[in-house]
Amino acid sequence: MSEGLDVSTKTALGVYVHWPFCLSICPYCDFNVHVFKNVNQDDWLKAYAAEIRHLGRLTDYAHPVTSVFFGGGTPSLVRPDILEGVLNELSSVWGLAADAEITLEANPVGLSRPLLEDLKRAGVTRFSMGVQSLDDAALKFLGRTHSAADAVEAFSLARDVFDYASLDMIYARPDQTVTAWQAELTMALALTPDHLSAYQLTIEQGTNFGKLYQAGRLSVPEEDVQVGLYNVTTSLCYEAGLAAYEVSNHARPGHASRHNIQCWQGAPYIGIGPGAHGRVDIDGQRHASIGIKKPAEWLAATGDDTKGHGLASLEPLSQEEVFEERLMFGLRLVEGVSLSEKSEKAPTRDKINFLISAGLLEDRHDRLVATHDGRLVLDRLVAELLIA
Ligand SMILES: C[S@@+](CC[C@H](N)C(=O)[O-])C[C@H]1O[C@@H](n2cnc3c(N)ncnc32)[C@H](O)[C@@H]1O
Ligand code: SF4
Repeated sequence: MSEGLDVSTKTALGVYVHWPFCLSICPYCDFNVHVFKNVNQDDWLKAYAAEIRHLGRLTDYAHPVTSVFFGGGTPSLVRPDILEGVLNELSSVWGLAADAEITLEANPVGLSRPLLEDLKRAGVTRFSMGVQSLDDAALKFLGRTHSAADAVEAFSLARDVFDYASLDMIYARPDQTVTAWQAELTMALALTPDHLSAYQLTIEQGTNFGKLYQAGRLSVPEEDVQVGLYNVTTSLCYEAGLAAYEVSNHARPGHASRHNIQCWQGAPYIGIGPGAHGRVDIDGQRHASIGIKKPAEWLAATGDDTKGHGLASLEPLSQEEVFEERLMFGLRLVEGVSLSEKSEKAPTRDKINFLISAGLLEDRHDRLVATHDGRLVLDRLVAELLIA
């Protein structure tokens, strides 16, 4: 990790705002999402504002918010004046840094130049669009309601309006070959994103894809093909000037997502909205917060005079739990994680040396870094490090 990132983490404060609605639900998606209908956005602003004030009373940060992430769901469905209202509330409770990164996740459907310009005026500085694929058959399989040409048009508009535009792609789809993915990713990179997230398709239990998978009607590529797909993703992005800074994330120099980096480096983040997770400091102790999952219940709880907030839980974390998270998230980053932190959970030197000799870890100037091979088996690597 660079010195600069370490220093900024100490004064970093993120806010994640969850918007749980989409025009339609994609069959692979396991996020807290619901169909966008009969939604009164003014009520949502009131609820977000009440929750921000509640968390403002619980926490005592002396530095302003440095990143806001409107995630979903599809926050590009939120009216720009509502987004502006949320940002104003954040500003009045914690203050908003002048150069705060304000990310908005978007779907290509329903975007127009006037809307994008209004979103920018409302304060969005980082526009992140779910493109997923540039192959019409694959988009249909993924349950997307836009074509590849629609996605290209929408992204080109966003590229024009925003100084910082990012796109998401999903690979390791059934029967996908390395050659076909190479061609598709090359097209995506030709759209000149500042940042590209490439996610391997994960089959989540309970989703439509999960059910098809269980019934034996859907399969994902074999592990060796997955490795080939991952390798080609890293090298094509690198050649296009977007080096990987995390397992699935690639960016032009200086364009890594500040919000993600802050969270992965252990900076606090405030979670607002149904099902939103947060990591906040209360009386010097890190706490994990989770919002009530169901949107209607969350909305009702924030407006309820007795409860007055939408948190389902707010639990203190032990030092060991904090350490585990630092290791788990820190190893996702190419800068790795500092070895100086002390914890009962800290891996022994013998364990570290063993994993270094296996080619999965590196000790770089007292930072533990997962190698390319280590990142391919990251979950197992972290589990191994944490076993006493
Ligand atoms: C909350 S969505 C934001 C984008 C927007 N809602 C859209 O889909 O157009 C975040 C991203 O997670 C990724 N994603 C969601 N479910 C996934 C899965 N099961 N496997 C891989 N990636 C997934 C997609 O790339 C998606 O763009
Ligand atoms: S991938 Fe995006 S659009 Fe599709 S259901 Fe998930 S959040 Fe909604």
